[in-house]
Amino acid sequence: MLNIGIDIGGTKIAGGVVDENGAIVEKLRVDTPIDPVALVDAVVDMAEHLRRGHDVHAIGVAAAGFISRDRSTVIYAANIDWRNEPLRARLEGRLNTPVTIENDANAAGWGEYRFGAGQGVRDMVMLTMGTGVGGAVVTNGELFRGGHGIGAELGHLRFVRGGHPCGCGQNGCLEQYASGRALQREANAIADEGGIGAALAAVRAEKGAIPGPAVSRLVLAGDPGALEALRRVATALGEACGGFQAVLDPELFVIGGGVAQLGDDLLVPVKLAYETSLPGYGERPVAEFTIARLGNDAGLIGVADLAGMER
Ligand code: BGC
Repeated sequence: MLNIGIDIGGTKIAGGVVDENGAIVEKLRVDTPIDPVALVDAVVDMAEHLRRGHDVHAIGVAAAGFISRDRSTVIYAANIDWRNEPLRARLEGRLNTPVTIENDANAAGWGEYRFGAGQGVRDMVMLTMGTGVGGAVVTNGELFRGGHGIGAELGHLRFVRGGHPCGCGQNGCLEQYASGRALQREANAIADEGGIGAALAAVRAEKGAIPGPAVSRLVLAGDPGALEALRRVATALGEACGGFQAVLDPELFVIGGGVAQLGDDLLVPVKLAYETSLPGYGERPVAEFTIARLGNDAGLIGVADLAGMER
């Protein structure tokens, strides 16, 4: 059985035809249009292209926003210009077939739970570190959605009182301290400080800004300034995970999104901050931490699976 999964990310739309074992048979990627109408057009084009060559059972679309309980509407999106966007009706009207809508981080969490790092675990939390910070909570083998369908928005936990303004209209959200954008902000701050920020400052002087991939390259090259930027972001995430442990008590945290490509350079300081933030540490069971195994495909694989289960 083949299903289509399309994951609308902050910078890219990734779509694929996925089989019942979570394997991708065909895959496409395009840049995410800023204009919301063009964005829907791009998703429709991608779905049409993908279903042309395959006998497709169901279509699922993951989007970075608050999805209504009936899974029809993007009620709100912190980083996309959608307010009460009837995404399912728009897509079904154009594609003439039922479409399953899911939050992008829930989709990624589900993908990892079914086919990736979370296989064999019943209670896990996934955090995606990309443009924003996404959250997915799998509890007793099911996605936790909350009373209005929009639970598990872990990136919008208030992490710093009176902190940085967030795209959600609040301030101090974890997303402002533990996302890919936060990593860039820290890299800029360290470049301003001079000293260990010299390599980051040189990138900024050359390019006019410090792009995320440049920070990653410097981290992997062992640059002390880039590693310090990563340590700050990882510490924020790890401290928040200590709090999530107190509330949700998962067996496993899976870390995904673009920043997770940094692997152990990210995971080691995350775990340190987590452990030192845990209530009752040393006298309680703790969770494992791992990097997402499906990489950036987790969302499209997860939403394809959810769509297949619904039809
Ligand atoms: C949004 C979430 C989304 C996450 C990752 C957050 O800002 O509120 O709905 O899952 O970013 O894209």
